Amino acid sequence: MIKSHKMTNPISQNRVVISGVGSRVPEKILTNDELAGMVDTSDEWIKTRTGISERRIAGSHETTSDMAAGAALAALENGKTDASEIDLLIVATISPDTAMPATACYVQEKAGLKNAMCFDMAAACSGFVYALDIAYQYILTGAAKKVMVVGADKMSALINWQDRTTCVLFGDGAGAVILEQGKGKSLGIMASSMKSDGSQASILHIEAGGAAMPLTPENITEGKQYITMEGSVVFKSAVRSMSEIAEEALAKAGLSSSEIAWLVPHQANKRILTAVAEKLGISMERVVINLEKYGNTTAGSIPLALDQAVNDGRIKDGDYILFVAFGAGATWGATVLQWGRE
Ligand SMILES: CC(C)(COP(=O)(O)OP(=O)(O)OC[C@H]1O[C@@H](n2cnc3c(N)ncnc32)[C@H](O)[C@@H]1OP(=O)(O)O)[C@@H](O)C(=O)NCCC(=O)NCCS
Repeated sequence: MIKSHKMTNPISQNRVVISGVGSRVPEKILTNDELAGMVDTSDEWIKTRTGISERRIAGSHETTSDMAAGAALAALENGKTDASEIDLLIVATISPDTAMPATACYVQEKAGLKNAMCFDMAAACSGFVYALDIAYQYILTGAAKKVMVVGADKMSALINWQDRTTCVLFGDGAGAVILEQGKGKSLGIMASSMKSDGSQASILHIEAGGAAMPLTPENITEGKQYITMEGSVVFKSAVRSMSEIAEEALAKAGLSSSEIAWLVPHQANKRILTAVAEKLGISMERVVINLEKYGNTTAGSIPLALDQAVNDGRIKDGDYILFVAFGAGATWGATVLQWGRE
């Protein structure tokens, strides 16, 4: 049943819904025990500190665009949508196949989205909610009718596999949603809040490989092409930012956290998610968590978790859903929606 809502926002008449959802992960599983054979760590340490047991790792010829296209095709099938209907494709990723062109252009070709305008969104772990927000605006203004938003990352290509402080956290994967104007059966997207703070850029970044520091044999030897992170600083910033932005988006939507059926957060670390849920007053039974099997798949994590929770029947029509993410930049954001495909 569709629940009544308290929202007074005038744009609620223009409803934008998620009409299809899909995901794709690589087949290869890398367990904590296998990692413990590569760096000085243990299954017990990783599970206790992060909640992660295993993650998926793409094959050497399996690219970000391959996973993204797989997720996009699954979303088309799930949403009973023809590829030709998609007029905008946004791929959120920080592991693009190439620096140029955008990974979205490869995905367009692989998924047959021949009528789509294509671009990438670089907002790291917040990439999916940022891209969702842009897609929402395109539909509201009438500039696009059906938008494919994909979050996809091949983090295994950006990780220093000798750095135990980062290599245990991430995995590869992709998720996708189709957005379109709703028919009024659900409220669809109700509110969102997005923020950035460039003063936090250095706490989670990759130093080399961009135009500021092109790759050279020297900086490759020093490992500057890989992710570096101040883990505990990121941890605290993530907890504070995710809970604040979620509260802001809930207030805009006119909902209290007790009305949220499912919190679908970016899968950073189980301890981060527990702390955020606690601050919001949402019990862990209402949090969609899949990081024990996939780790942190960056832009892929929210749509991957969403796809699983929709398809196993946890998320039902009429449910109020809260997405919340935090990532490099720093970037963070939250989206509140009422689930329903029409
Ligand atoms: C990375 C993270 C799990 C580390 O957990 P933590 O409790 O903060 O641990 P610390 O960084 O304080 O390190 C504690 C000790 O464990 C060690 N350690 C770090 N990684 C380890 C590993 N994989 N295995 C074993 N020991 C490890 C550290 O070297 C440190 O040892 P020391 O005390 O001798 O110096 C945690 O900070 C985190 O999740 N941060 C956020 C990461 C994240 O989500 N990033 C993406 C944002 S979208």
